[in-house]
Amino acid sequence: MYPAEFFSFITYILLAKSFLLVSGGNTYGSSIKFYNGATINTHTSHDLTTAENVADDAGFNLTRTTMIFVHGYNESPDTATSATLINAYLTNGQYNILAFDWRNGAAGTLIDVANRIDGSVILLVLIWLEKSENILLGGLDKRNLLTGLDPAIIYTDPDILNYNHARFVDIIHTDIGGLGIIQNTGTVDFFPNGGVARQPGCPIFPITVGQIACSHMRSIYYWAESVARGNQTTFLSVNRANPNIIIQMGNNCPTSYVQGYYDLTTNHSPPFSMT
Ligand SMILES: *[C@@H]1O[C@H](CO)[C@@H](O)[C@H](O)[C@H]1NC(C)=O
Ligand SMILES: *[C@@H]1O[C@H](CO)[C@@H](O)[C@H](O)[C@H]1NC(C)=O
Repeated sequence: MYPAEFFSFITYILLAKSFLLVSGGNTYGSSIKFYNGATINTHTSHDLTTAENVADDAGFNLTRTTMIFVHGYNESPDTATSATLINAYLTNGQYNILAFDWRNGAAGTLIDVANRIDGSVILLVLIWLEKSENILLGGLDKRNLLTGLDPAIIYTDPDILNYNHARFVDIIHTDIGGLGIIQNTGTVDFFPNGGVARQPGCPIFPITVGQIACSHMRSIYYWAESVARGNQTTFLSVNRANPNIIIQMGNNCPTSYVQGYYDLTTNHSPPFSMT
């Protein structure tokens, strides 16, 4: 007998499956990885077509919130930025940690990748997180939390990640004017340092690919810091319309009764949160 949140989790496995266009039944060798050890090196892996079986793996704890990380363009769960995020959840210790590994689908030219994914689900090069919640929710859809970490501008699908895609959608903008979307489409949208490129600490004259993506990736590092620091108060953000409303950006963001645009500033280097 599975509790209700398990079915939320299954919903997201199915969403992950539909993320890749199965033209010709091709899932590009994608898999779901489950991190059930003390370090990122310990994990199980399930072919996407049988990914639900992950819930039977040793260490999968049905009373915990399940987090699914979906990496972006030319990334994988093993790249440095992804690893920082997964390690943050290992440090936190309160989650079932899953990663949707679609590295083969995410590789190639932007056009290649755009043609492989189901644009009706989400935007290309979106870096996102999904969480089930340990509460019983009403509907079959829109039950969970979805986070867009600087969703990318590159593929202008009309069904861009937005507040309709989950019960609560938070978006962290860190590269407006660069790789990030310019639309504000979340239930809440956060704008660290204005949300624009260049984020503090990123190079003025980027040369390497990593440097060019620095502001884009900052969203993930901010999120990871909030996760690793658990219940500590981090990334206090001020509502643009009503400065009396202050909430936390990141994993401790309240997921009910909040909406709108929130501003904050960060440090140049870790710890990025000013609190
Ligand atoms: C499952 O997770 C809950 C909540 O974190 C924890 O209290 C419990 O000990 C865990 N069960 C096992 C078998 O680890
Ligand atoms: C954080 O808060 C939650 C909810 O109040 C609690 O269950 C958990 O034990 C806390 N974690 C830590 C590390 O204090």
